[in-house]
Amino acid sequence: MIEFREVQKYYGDYHALRGISAEIRAGEFFSLLGPSGCGKTTLLRTIAGFEDISSGAVLIDGKDMSNVPANKRPTNMVFQSYAIFPHLTVAENVGFGLRRDPRSSAEKARAVEEALELVGLKGYGPRAAHAMSGGQRQRVALARALILKPKVLLLDEPMSALDKKIREQMQVELIKLQRELGITFVLVTHDQEEALVMSDRIAVMFDGEIAQLADPETLYRHPNSRRVANFIGVMNFLPARVTAESDSHVALEVPGLGPLEVTPDQVAAQTSGGEATVGFRPETLTLLYEGQTASDREAPGVIDEVVYYGDMTYYDIRLDGVSAPVRISMRNVFGRPVLDVGSRIRVAWSPGALVLFR
Ligand SMILES: Nc1ncnc2c1ncn2[C@@H]1O[C@H](COP(=O)(O)OP(=O)(O)O)[C@@H](O)[C@H]1O
Ligand SMILES: [Mg+2]
Repeated sequence: MIEFREVQKYYGDYHALRGISAEIRAGEFFSLLGPSGCGKTTLLRTIAGFEDISSGAVLIDGKDMSNVPANKRPTNMVFQSYAIFPHLTVAENVGFGLRRDPRSSAEKARAVEEALELVGLKGYGPRAAHAMSGGQRQRVALARALILKPKVLLLDEPMSALDKKIREQMQVELIKLQRELGITFVLVTHDQEEALVMSDRIAVMFDGEIAQLADPETLYRHPNSRRVANFIGVMNFLPARVTAESDSHVALEVPGLGPLEVTPDQVAAQTSGGEATVGFRPETLTLLYEGQTASDREAPGVIDEVVYYGDMTYYDIRLDGVSAPVRISMRNVFGRPVLDVGSRIRVAWSPGALVLFR
């Protein structure tokens, strides 16, 4: 649906997009994820036609967009700030883009009502926009974009101003809406959780480049670099020494975990040339309780810190022989006690859950 070919963008001598090449498929929920300033909005605006590119090409539906102005592109954008007109009614806001539409006013009113229904605001048309809550305004903005029936909906951090609960509710509704409409959504977000929850695929961006483009599970389980691993969720790192290597496995010595082997699919694709480290997610280790034995490997340690979240407890563990703490997350199953700082414990871990960075 959308293709970036070696897209470069300079603001003066600031290099904002550094050779972006990627494809966004028709009907997918695609996210651009990265820290503030990495170029997400700039890249999104090149799709909409709000931003000229310095070189390369942006194609939509196979057509080069170089000479196609924003209002002739099959895209529509929902902004971070909503850009709702407060002095107009909800219906007037939603129908704003139909000003020059030749349809009769009755037909337009019906289109407005349909769009409002899509976003869960049926019957809200006559209300004053300024009287709507933040979440409702976001829906109005969404309806205003959808009424123009774009093939591609571009969303620039549309939920960042909403409270956590309303944001989570909006996320679920947006996923449903996208499935229902079947149009391509491109979402910009700096919130890794939001990207994981919503997307079919995610492009992780740093410094004007795509660091990794994959589906959420691949990004989480097989990050191609330490930087991506650190940006998506929490990952523990321990220094490792490569002791032997063949086509089928890499043998390692990891202080705290001992000797172990990983398979080539556990080796991160990008090499940095630095020291080797193994990474593992907090939920891939388990605390062993009194009397429990591990089905995998075990390592002894002591609890350094306990953070209780109600449904989960995070433990920072000092494995014997390792100075940096390792974070482990445990679900608080009924009847299982929360352990105290200073307790000596054993943790179970599986070599298959490790990622090797080198
Ligand atoms: N119109 C502009 N003029 C100069 N620099 C800009 C302009 N727009 C964005 N930038 C710079 O380009 C970089 C990327 O910006 P942006 O795409 O807005 O990042 P993001 O959306 O990922 O936070 C930032 O360093 C920003 O300061
Ligand atoms: Mg931005």
